[in-house]
Amino acid sequence: MWSKLLFVVLFGIYLAANFEVNVNIISSGGFRLKCSNTPQDAVVFRFTNFVCKSYNTSAFVFHNCRLKAVSRERVLLNMNGTVLHSINNVSLHAKIFKRANGFQPWLLEGTVDVCRFLQKRNNPFIRIVFNLFQEFSNINHTCPYVGPQIVKDFYLKPELLRLPFPTGDYLLSMQWLFYNRPQFDTNVSFAYVEDLLVLKKKN
Ligand SMILES: *[C@@H]1O[C@H](CO)[C@@H](O)[C@H](O)[C@H]1NC(C)=O
Ligand SMILES: *[C@@H]1O[C@H](CO)[C@@H](O)[C@H](O)[C@H]1NC(C)=O
Ligand SMILES: *[C@@H]1O[C@H](CO)[C@@H](O)[C@H](O)[C@H]1NC(C)=O
Ligand SMILES: *[C@@H]1O[C@H](CO)[C@@H](O)[C@H](O)[C@H]1NC(C)=O
Ligand SMILES: *[C@@H]1O[C@H](CO)[C@@H](O)[C@H](O)[C@H]1NC(C)=O
Repeated sequence: MWSKLLFVVLFGIYLAANFEVNVNIISSGGFRLKCSNTPQDAVVFRFTNFVCKSYNTSAFVFHNCRLKAVSRERVLLNMNGTVLHSINNVSLHAKIFKRANGFQPWLLEGTVDVCRFLQKRNNPFIRIVFNLFQEFSNINHTCPYVGPQIVKDFYLKPELLRLPFPTGDYLLSMQWLFYNRPQFDTNVSFAYVEDLLVLKKKN
């Protein structure tokens, strides 16, 4: 299930890396962004905050939820939690916010049936994204989920990053539901700077 934690972000990265993507930012009056897929474009992506909270400690407990800066460019994300009873019905409600004098209304929002995706793996985009992520985690299996859920030293390889967003600070809020009831949140903030090399070359 922890793969879903990054699907929303990584799906955007994948799309932007492979195609010319036009994204309508829904809540901001529908302005358009365009991303190029030039492979030598450089971007900076840094996790800046990671907050976890269980709303039902008889279903899920967190032991660890932490960022670790190992260099100026690289911040690793770690999470350790336990699902206390076997769960066969998981969904993820995710929203992305952009920070500007506090976080503005959400930009993108979506809900995913996690168990269904893990079983069918029938979405080629999400499947590719899942493959990027699974080496950092123990989530590579179908539902049910029970016991330790680990994300270890996860970082996004810069060469894979193409977010269809402008430079800025973002929050990806993820609310996890069991049987349609909210159980816990994992909220990840990150800073994103697009096309740094290209900007430098132009100057
Ligand atoms: C909390 O988790 C327990 C154990 O899984 C479950 O029986 C209960 O319905 C959950 N409560 C809520 C409000 O989701
Ligand atoms: C996760 O936390 C549990 C409980 O504190 C601990 O026993 C376990 O070793 C931790 N696992 C990892 C991979 O850090
Ligand atoms: C993930 O699971 C699938 C199916 O069990 C397996 O084919 C694949 O090699 C696994 N990948 C990793 C990185 O463990
Ligand atoms: C996660 O973000 C959402 C959206 O801003 C917020 O409602 C929720 O309280 C946050 N959860 C935590 C644990 O900070
Ligand atoms: C998950 O549980 C909810 C609430 O019990 C139910 O409405 C929904 O159909 C279930 N989803 C699946 C895929 O079983």
